[in-house]
Amino acid sequence: MTRFDVVVVGELNVDLIVRGDVVPRWGQAEQLLDDATLTLGSSAAIMASGCARLGLRTAFIGLVGADPFGALCTDHLVARGIDISGVAVAPGQRTGCTIVLHRDADRTMLTFPGAMAHFGTEHIAADAFTGVRHVHLASPFLQPALRPAIADVLARARAAGATTSLDPNWDPAESWDDVPDWLPHLDMFLPNDAEACAIARAHGAAVASLDDAIAWLAARVPLLAVKCGAVGAVARCGTRHLQCTPPAVVPVDAVGAGDSFDAGWLYGYLAGWPLERTLHAAVICGALSTRAAGGTAAQATRAELSTALVGTMA
Ligand SMILES: Nc1ncnc2c1ncn2[C@@H]1O[C@H](COP(=O)(O)OP(=O)(O)O)[C@@H](O)[C@H]1O
Ligand SMILES: [Mg+2]
Repeated sequence: MTRFDVVVVGELNVDLIVRGDVVPRWGQAEQLLDDATLTLGSSAAIMASGCARLGLRTAFIGLVGADPFGALCTDHLVARGIDISGVAVAPGQRTGCTIVLHRDADRTMLTFPGAMAHFGTEHIAADAFTGVRHVHLASPFLQPALRPAIADVLARARAAGATTSLDPNWDPAESWDDVPDWLPHLDMFLPNDAEACAIARAHGAAVASLDDAIAWLAARVPLLAVKCGAVGAVARCGTRHLQCTPPAVVPVDAVGAGDSFDAGWLYGYLAGWPLERTLHAAVICGALSTRAAGGTAAQATRAELSTALVGTMA
């Protein structure tokens, strides 16, 4: 009998999502915004929330500061029924924060990493992966203390009998170092299209198109899913290549869509669904998450996913 379907290891921060026809101007006293939402951010936490919404038994391992932003993060996780006994509180640290500024269809993000930069293997209990079906890791490039140990963490997860996945998200330094060391420890790799191309290029592949990046990655990991925004996503397993477009939605914002995609993907994978149905589930979960501001408010329930899958699949 397993304890958890999925343990998510990764960063925790809040998102302050603001919207307005505003370009920040230094020296000007005050400019007005049209909207502001303070909510749970971070790829790892949004992914974990999506898993819990779909009914997976989910636990989180991470680090927050002893402050209101940290409490907001853990309160959100608890409200979704996620086990947070693996979330440590760092007394001397502040919890990270991302300001997401939307202006028309464009957006920019400003991140203060805070405690996430100090999260390391000393915060992961020796028995963290015992009785766990799957371990997901997110945003290695935002976690410099954890990063040198990522291959070891993934190897520990597998040694405990779990399958593994990683969502790289963007590398602010654009070096993409270490990715080739992580791939052999992964059952599945879940980048977006820009990340896939940047990683393959950074490690010497000639990348003229996304197909070239997919070929490079697919030779190094058993299962690959690449997210392509409003266009949908592509999956590759050995020589099998599938693509899928999202259902029609009226997007409010795409914050965390890739993380909700990861949750849908993992739900299908753990259910033992065929690749095509798993990719459909992922794309649906990504698309439905865009219906509200922030990453978690509109995440798909299992019932919503079932309804959306009817009609897409025989
Ligand atoms: N504007 C959109 N309309 C419909 N679906 C979307 C939209 N943006 C994202 N999605 C869905 O969310 C998934 C992941 O989004 P994407 O933006 O590619 O990931 P990331 O957040 O990692 O960059 C897509 O594969 C798609 O299914
Ligand atoms: Mg992403």
